[in-house]
Amino acid sequence: MGKSTSAVTLAAHFAGRGRALLVDADERLRSAWNWTTKKEDYAGWGFEVQLYSAFMEQKNPGEGYDFIILDTKGGEGAGELVALARNSSLLIIPTKPDGVSADGLVATLQPLLEKGVTNYRVLLTDVPPAPNADGLDMRLELDTAGIPLFGHSIRHAVAVSKAAREGICVRDVRGDRYAKLVWMDYELVSREVLNHVK
Ligand SMILES: Nc1ncnc2c1ncn2[C@@H]1O[C@H](COP(=O)(O)OP(=O)(O)O)[C@@H](O)[C@H]1O
Ligand SMILES: [Mg+2]
Repeated sequence: MGKSTSAVTLAAHFAGRGRALLVDADERLRSAWNWTTKKEDYAGWGFEVQLYSAFMEQKNPGEGYDFIILDTKGGEGAGELVALARNSSLLIIPTKPDGVSADGLVATLQPLLEKGVTNYRVLLTDVPPAPNADGLDMRLELDTAGIPLFGHSIRHAVAVSKAAREGICVRDVRGDRYAKLVWMDYELVSREVLNHVK
């Protein structure tokens, strides 16, 4: 969970560093598309957005962009994850720590390790604040299982759903100091992404 939020917010970060395209491959829900096209007079995104079908209809999909961020449906099996990783610079797997065991996620990701795929990272999102330790517990469990993780996590912040409702970037949510903090969390993760792909 947190895929569309991460795709949209990371795309806004990458837009500051080059020409960025967000592709919404979850055409049933269209969360990323709906969020970023909602407010017509809003100029805060800085990236372009396309639905996956329109993206694929082009002669050279993605040509001319420095960054292409693909928001998937989720629930992909091992084979699909391997294919996604092989066709990307980096496969980001946003996950919300929910206090239960990470065994299911470890089992899903094990085939990636077995197939020698290393260009993926789990991103812990919507992490509850201390003293709740669900984020740290999950980090420890995944790390022990040899699953690669981003060093930074994304905290829980209601500003995120507010941003989606208003059709703006979380950076521009006013009157909630957590908006800036969660934007900064994504900034730190975007730097990790750049370190990985450069
Ligand atoms: N960091 C966060 N803090 C609070 N709520 C979040 C956070 N990230 C995601 N959410 C909320 O969780 C729900 C699912 O997020 P979303 O990004 O749409 O996940 P997915 O695309 O994986 O289904 C949304 O209501 C969203 O606002
Ligand atoms: Mg989604």
